[in-house]
Amino acid sequence: MPDKLMNIPKNSLLGNKIIYLDKVDSTSDYIRRELETGEITEGTVVLAGCQMKGRGRAGRAWESPPGGLWFSVLLRPRLPIDAMALLSLVFAVGISRGLDRFIKYRCEIKWPNDIYLDQKKLAGILLETSVSEEDVYLIVGVGINVNIDRDELGSLSSMAVSLCDYSSAALDLDSILEIVLQYMESYYLNFLHQGFDEILKEFKAVCLHLGKRVEIACSSRIVSGINVDIDSMGKLLVDTGIDIEKVSAGDVRVL
Ligand code: BTN
Repeated sequence: MPDKLMNIPKNSLLGNKIIYLDKVDSTSDYIRRELETGEITEGTVVLAGCQMKGRGRAGRAWESPPGGLWFSVLLRPRLPIDAMALLSLVFAVGISRGLDRFIKYRCEIKWPNDIYLDQKKLAGILLETSVSEEDVYLIVGVGINVNIDRDELGSLSSMAVSLCDYSSAALDLDSILEIVLQYMESYYLNFLHQGFDEILKEFKAVCLHLGKRVEIACSSRIVSGINVDIDSMGKLLVDTGIDIEKVSAGDVRVL
């Protein structure tokens, strides 16, 4: 276990236990397997030096070489299913605020939860949930490009950035994890106790495309128009010129 992570307060929820693995297929898959044996507790963080089969949203692969922060957290929120969906936005705000502490610039968010810096993707979040009578769990998988060379970003280098390109100081993965977990916890608890209103205001303030022309690939159609708002259920409102469409899932392209 990396030493700095011993600083995480013992009464914290996120990171009350940290499992460090040099190499794993995917930290989220590791948690899933542990859930089957029933031996993993809420708040456990699984952190990997690198992932061989990192997964992104929409079934995409997630490049996870050494030098990045690749981790997943197990939570058990007792929330209605529509409130669960908001957690995607809640963690995006929390993580981007945590990362702001390490750079001169401000991170932005592409809905629902891609974290951008200088118009390129810095970090991604993958939420996987199961809600049944027997069990409720949420696995929050977080990938942050921290000290990754442009070469290692490979074909992604025109679309992705690494935190080290924007910081004059050397970046230490453990310190970043410690701060990011603190922010994730603080936004998560705020959401559970105070609701979504204030977090939504923060989301809108750093949203990459609010007020801009967008094209959204939804499962069966493309919605294009001006992204005029985000509603209290976290849905994007798009003025298509004909009507206002509500979008609850899809990939946003900012035009
Ligand atoms: C995305 O933007 O598409 C989401 C990327 C999420 C990547 C993280 S890295 C840690 C965790 N394990 C995975 O396999 N994926 C998530």
